[in-house]
Amino acid sequence: GAPVKADISKLEPGQMVVVEWRGKPVYIVRRTEEQVASLKQLDQYMKDPVSKGSEQPEYVDSVSRAIRPEYLVLVGLCTHLGCAPKHHPEVGVPDLGGKSWLGGFFCPCHGSRFDLAGRVYQGSPASQNLVVPPYSYEGDNVLVIG
Ligand code: FES
Repeated sequence: GAPVKADISKLEPGQMVVVEWRGKPVYIVRRTEEQVASLKQLDQYMKDPVSKGSEQPEYVDSVSRAIRPEYLVLVGLCTHLGCAPKHHPEVGVPDLGGKSWLGGFFCPCHGSRFDLAGRVYQGSPASQNLVVPPYSYEGDNVLVIG
């Protein structure tokens, strides 16, 4: 399939857009500096904190799981059975994990939880982090997926 381009210049901090790539939804999330900085403190709650067993290009950082930390790019399919996890950027939603919930993705099908790097929380049915697809940048404002 052909690569897909996404203009990210209008994306506000905290927002997500979805583009389609090879028939799959790809989530692009603009993270705040705070959100990126908070990832490290969630390591203890994660099944695979440094993404050893998870699919991602080797050129992304293993914790922020991004090229530019501000922009998270993920295949929007749960690694359990393929539902679409929902973006929940808000902090501390009690039924989504209480105190350790600093925003992320919640899969409505069987309750898998992922942080804002797509890393899966312990206790989730999914065992792998969300997939980071191959991507690159064309200048500052265009993301090329594929
Ligand atoms: Fe997401 Fe089962 S498909 S938790």
